[in-house]
Amino acid sequence: MGFGDEFQRLSKYFRESLKGRGLDWDRKPPLYKKYPSENKTIELPRPDREGGQPLYEAVQERRSVRNYKNTPVNAKTLSQVLWAAQGITLATEYHQFRASPSAGALYPVETYCQVNNVEGLEPGLYHYQVPYHALTLVKEGSFGLDLARAALGQKMLRDSAFNLVWTAVIERSKWKYEQRAYRYIYLDAGHIAQNAALAAVSCGLGSCQVGAFFDEEVNRVIEVDGEAEFAIYMSSFGIPK
Ligand SMILES: Cc1cc2nc3c(=O)[nH]c(=O)nc-3n(C[C@H](O)[C@H](O)[C@H](O)COP(=O)(O)O)c2cc1C
Repeated sequence: MGFGDEFQRLSKYFRESLKGRGLDWDRKPPLYKKYPSENKTIELPRPDREGGQPLYEAVQERRSVRNYKNTPVNAKTLSQVLWAAQGITLATEYHQFRASPSAGALYPVETYCQVNNVEGLEPGLYHYQVPYHALTLVKEGSFGLDLARAALGQKMLRDSAFNLVWTAVIERSKWKYEQRAYRYIYLDAGHIAQNAALAAVSCGLGSCQVGAFFDEEVNRVIEVDGEAEFAIYMSSFGIPK
């Protein structure tokens, strides 16, 4: 039996094991990751919340697209994809619910946008600030090739207009779900990536999901520690060739 089989077995729920578990609200991790205020933050264009291509058509058309034109994507399109992935769609007194579901509304997944070719945005690595629908600059530069190398040499990450990298801030989910959190982060990320992929189709983009990568190399590119926060999934986006 491998460690994956063990993980599946050990992270099962049983009626007995769920009894008597409470939550320590004083230790609830913060919901949002923040960068120092010196980091430049760029507001994204307001995303459309209606219209676009009918959903069934987008579902029918979506395919993994790995070859992109060397044509810039506009900021509105990037905004639309980010909103569909993780944008806030309902704010209540206690929760800010997002476009994609998340176990316990704990939202452990962070989105990084590595920009290669987007109008009005310098190439660089940005962090998506969910509550402000904005991008905070982590570092300027062309990191597409680094990401491609970290993803077993998959060139689409170099040739794309932008790539989204999703990480998990594991404590946000572990706080409630303990080891089962390791199931939920991947489920959350799958929902997010699919929403992004469908929005991309609707905006005339193609995308490809990427699960094959050297974890620590991706963590280094996006400057996360690999322990408290680590990369779990990526997608490349661009205008199909
Ligand atoms: C979890 C996951 C990981 C994937 N990783 C990669 C990848 O690293 N590289 C790649 O080219 N495609 C990757 N794909 C895309 C699949 O190859 C693709 O979805 C599959 O061939 C079906 O084709 P379709 O997406 O066009 O329907 C991944 C898809 C998923 C869901």
